[in-house]
Amino acid sequence: MANGLYLKLKALLPDGLRDALSTVNQHFFARTTLQRKHGDWFEVDWRKKFQAMPPEEWIRAYDEVWKHHTNNCVDETDADMIISVLERSLQTENSSATVLEVGCGFGSLAIAMARAGFQTTCVDVSNEALRRAEARANNESVTITWKQGFAEALPMADKSVDFITCCHTLEHVKDLAAATAELKRVARKKLVVLVPRQKYRLYADNYHTQFFSHPDDLIRAFGLERYECTEINYLGRESEFQGEALLYVGYL
Ligand SMILES: C[S@@+](CC[C@H](N)C(=O)[O-])C[C@H]1O[C@@H](n2cnc3c(N)ncnc32)[C@H](O)[C@@H]1O
Repeated sequence: MANGLYLKLKALLPDGLRDALSTVNQHFFARTTLQRKHGDWFEVDWRKKFQAMPPEEWIRAYDEVWKHHTNNCVDETDADMIISVLERSLQTENSSATVLEVGCGFGSLAIAMARAGFQTTCVDVSNEALRRAEARANNESVTITWKQGFAEALPMADKSVDFITCCHTLEHVKDLAAATAELKRVARKKLVVLVPRQKYRLYADNYHTQFFSHPDDLIRAFGLERYECTEINYLGRESEFQGEALLYVGYL
């Protein structure tokens, strides 16, 4: 609540002043504040270290994240919107469509898509996330296939699913070019990608590695000829994520 109010007030500031305050905070306070807030498990120097991080360490780091986190960034409004984007493609077809959710986290979107009738597979780098998402899906009697893996090397054959969704995950990958190439390799029809619209910050509450401050950053990363890219504002929504995001739909 207090954080929501703080973010709303911050959003009222002119861009230049917001940037100046952020620079001061980054320089003098952010590192210590984050370390104090999260404690030992949080790698406050992630952006200095991630390039050299071996896969096992990456997996361990995200397992720790999921031991300390429960929420998904994707909320019900997003899930409804994404499902309707996928369903638009199905209007002329009868077969049961397949969808791969990359970076499923706690599984909210995957469970919603499975409930909507999509044959759903999930990939996440974190075994802890997969364990918790699977337990949740089982509790809700929803059938999903779970696979551990990296977005940069998806454990799936070429063109093996109709759709891929990848929400609040592309900003976490080590190698953006490899991840976008993998999404295009595995999906047959459509990619639905959601990322925060953000400028680079060295110290932040998250393990982001890729920054999309303009729709063109995302459009260029996929290099597809047919796409739509829209902006979404989350401020005031009941979502863990509060900020602006970009929704990209790419046609293969
Ligand atoms: C912010 S969470 C988003 C989870 C969920 N999609 C949502 O919208 O709430 C980012 C997810 O990406 C996963 N992740 C991080 N690096 C990854 C990678 N290279 N490949 C696949 N998943 C990754 C994390 O384990 C985490 O579940």
